[in-house]
Amino acid sequence: MQNNKITEQINKLKKEKNAIVLAHTYQNVEIDEVADFTGDSLYLSRMAANTDAKIIVFAGVYFMAETAKILSPEKKVLLPNMNSGCLMADMINLHQLREFKKKHPGIPVVCYVNSTAEVKSESDVCCTSANAVDVVRALGAKEVLFVPDTYLGTYVGTQLKDVKVITYPGHCPTHLRIRPEDIIEKKEKYPDAKVLAHPECHGEVIKLADFVGSTTAIMKHASESKDKSFIIVTEKGVVDRLKRDYPEKEFVLISERAICPNMKWNKLEDILNVLENEVNEIDVDSEIAKKAFATIDRMLKL
Ligand code: 13P
Ligand code: SF4
Repeated sequence: MQNNKITEQINKLKKEKNAIVLAHTYQNVEIDEVADFTGDSLYLSRMAANTDAKIIVFAGVYFMAETAKILSPEKKVLLPNMNSGCLMADMINLHQLREFKKKHPGIPVVCYVNSTAEVKSESDVCCTSANAVDVVRALGAKEVLFVPDTYLGTYVGTQLKDVKVITYPGHCPTHLRIRPEDIIEKKEKYPDAKVLAHPECHGEVIKLADFVGSTTAIMKHASESKDKSFIIVTEKGVVDRLKRDYPEKEFVLISERAICPNMKWNKLEDILNVLENEVNEIDVDSEIAKKAFATIDRMLKL
């Protein structure tokens, strides 16, 4: 079936079933044709928490749909394609978190939203790339444990000199494939371009950036800046959207390796399938969900 036909059917079903589609900025760009909201993890969690819709189709990866379910347990949350996991979220499980806490007793745990519901349930507060620095600052602790992303945690530590951030050795394979040499090479070709990077990147990459922020923050910065040319140091979906929305500006993808294969599983056909058949429903154990809710809610209230 052609994309415009699928889009038409999805939009019809959304109305009939009182459903919304949330799309992460790394999704295939054509998903935006059916998305009610597109953005970073923080924005999408807020949308999931506030919607009146009965069904949420989460075009993103598993932990995002799980977070939506924790925030809106009475709603049906559907993931278009069950292959869409996040490799970083799977780098720490409950047992590993408990061992990490045992090694560093009495220190509050900040978990990046890219984590499982179980890990959230055993943490003190959640954060996203958009608010990690603010969340850790607001905690007011001298030391924090940060899981699972060692690079985001390290970045937070560089921004808060008075806080010791002890990080768990997890990472995002997509962002780690980006090397400082990639930036140097692109800067030689585009000397006037500003470098906008995601904080999941390696610290040596971050050092070369003019701006560091979440995917939505990168898009906002690029749209509002007086500069005309940008090297985008995150996943390709952000560049695709920037090129579409601001054709008068120049956007350079840092590397063809900057693609999250897990994010790209979701296709328009998958969205139509889950809406039609109400399959791939996300379920979270109620005890775990209750504790994980408290961890996420603390973040949303900060
Ligand atoms: P954002 O919250 O910045 O959208 O990032 C989510 C993510 O998975 C980045 O790899
Ligand atoms: Fe997970 Fe990295 Fe993909 Fe983001 S880009 S969803 S952190 S694997």
